[in-house]
Amino acid sequence: MAERRESIHGQWSGRWAFILAATGSAVGLGNIWKFPYITGENGGGAFVLVYLLCIAIIGIPIMVAEVMLGRRGRRSPINTMRHLAFEERASRFWQYLGWAGVVAGFLILSYYAVIAGWAVAYIFRTASGAFTGATADGVSSIFSELIADPERLLAWHTIFMVITLVVVARGVRSGLEVAVRYLMPTLFVILLVLVGYAMNTGHFAEGVSFLFSPDFHALFYQLDKNGVEQLTSEPVLIALGHAFFTLSLGMGAIMVYGSYLPKGTSIIKTSVVIAAMDTLVALLAGLAIFPIVFANGLEASSGPGLIFQTLPIAFGHMPAGSFFGSLFFVLLAFAAWSSAISLIEPAVAWLVENHGFSRISATSWIGLGTWLLGIGTIFSFNIWSGEEYQLFGKTFFDLLDYLTANIMLPLGGLLIAVFAGWQMRRTACQDELGINDGLIFRGWYFLLRYISPVAVVIVFLNAIGLLTF
Ligand code: PFF
Repeated sequence: MAERRESIHGQWSGRWAFILAATGSAVGLGNIWKFPYITGENGGGAFVLVYLLCIAIIGIPIMVAEVMLGRRGRRSPINTMRHLAFEERASRFWQYLGWAGVVAGFLILSYYAVIAGWAVAYIFRTASGAFTGATADGVSSIFSELIADPERLLAWHTIFMVITLVVVARGVRSGLEVAVRYLMPTLFVILLVLVGYAMNTGHFAEGVSFLFSPDFHALFYQLDKNGVEQLTSEPVLIALGHAFFTLSLGMGAIMVYGSYLPKGTSIIKTSVVIAAMDTLVALLAGLAIFPIVFANGLEASSGPGLIFQTLPIAFGHMPAGSFFGSLFFVLLAFAAWSSAISLIEPAVAWLVENHGFSRISATSWIGLGTWLLGIGTIFSFNIWSGEEYQLFGKTFFDLLDYLTANIMLPLGGLLIAVFAGWQMRRTACQDELGINDGLIFRGWYFLLRYISPVAVVIVFLNAIGLLTF
């Protein structure tokens, strides 16, 4: 009988189901909400260049490794790491990599759901015609009013959490595959429509040049609180962290999806397709947003509210804008939803495997925890926004975002690279990837063993000030 190595949670129906689910996880608020605003905060082109480099030489090799570990282990990330460490005679401590991922997913979801709640709120705002003919100031004040009101934010946060939990409780496959198959292409088309609008703002060239002409001065010199320019390497850490965040790497989400992947699918090709689609969506979002920013005299560096303060201007002025606008926010909420699912799947799979929880109760407990923690993020935008509630000049939300995206995910990715590159047998990697010792394997193995870990370590040391160039 052939060896049966299949997850107890089921399997994807094929290669495309996996591509759709993993793309669903990768494409989310990170691409459309976060990428434009951090690009705006970090000076544009040079930041984008560093980000693209991080995707190509660090993100893709680590994505291949993460999917590979998942498929080999066929369990939740904690048990996969425990099992593979045993199989490869490595230390038991590797299971803590799985643990760190579960914690990171929990922390990320707590603020992710709050921001996704904003997108849900905007579906109704846009549909009601609130933005029709609105000025940039009008649009900004609608946003400020929303985030100043903790009760409203809590209501939207709760609605988003409930929708996510219902789907996770029913199992990853039912619903998700179908949703992603139709919604992702539609989101893509709407983004193209928005880029079309941006082309007619008269400031398209300025937007393109902001995104694509690298200005390293703007990357490395940032204004401090007193308006004085300071040399900093932090933007490089942010670009690196974002490469992990946007590809859903370093915390087991892609590993758990890999564990549902049937044998025989090319992991390398699939990972390249997913990373390419993810990057394309982020760049399109940037191309849609920055021309609107410049055409309306807005600040590129205005922070997390950027898309909510720019795109509604476009919807307010284009034909059938209320329709397109509400459709856009529906799709954004769906994109966030398909990412949110993957954020809690590692924890749910573990509770089901190790503690005999039913899927429903595992989902409910984790959901309750993330929902409660989310309240901290909600308060960061209003009652806790003052300096007396900040640590290192960061609000609760900023801290969570910084800790997870810039520290936990790159560290998780680093350990994945070290495990796959240095602990696993070379032949085991080849067997799982289904390729021989040719150029592609060697290229990947080299990037994974040397380039990705060293790059992550250098960026880290630099950011904590131990290394200065
Ligand atoms: N990749 C998602 C996004 O760009 O919105 C966020 C995310 C999902 C990060 C899943 C990490 C993760 F495991």
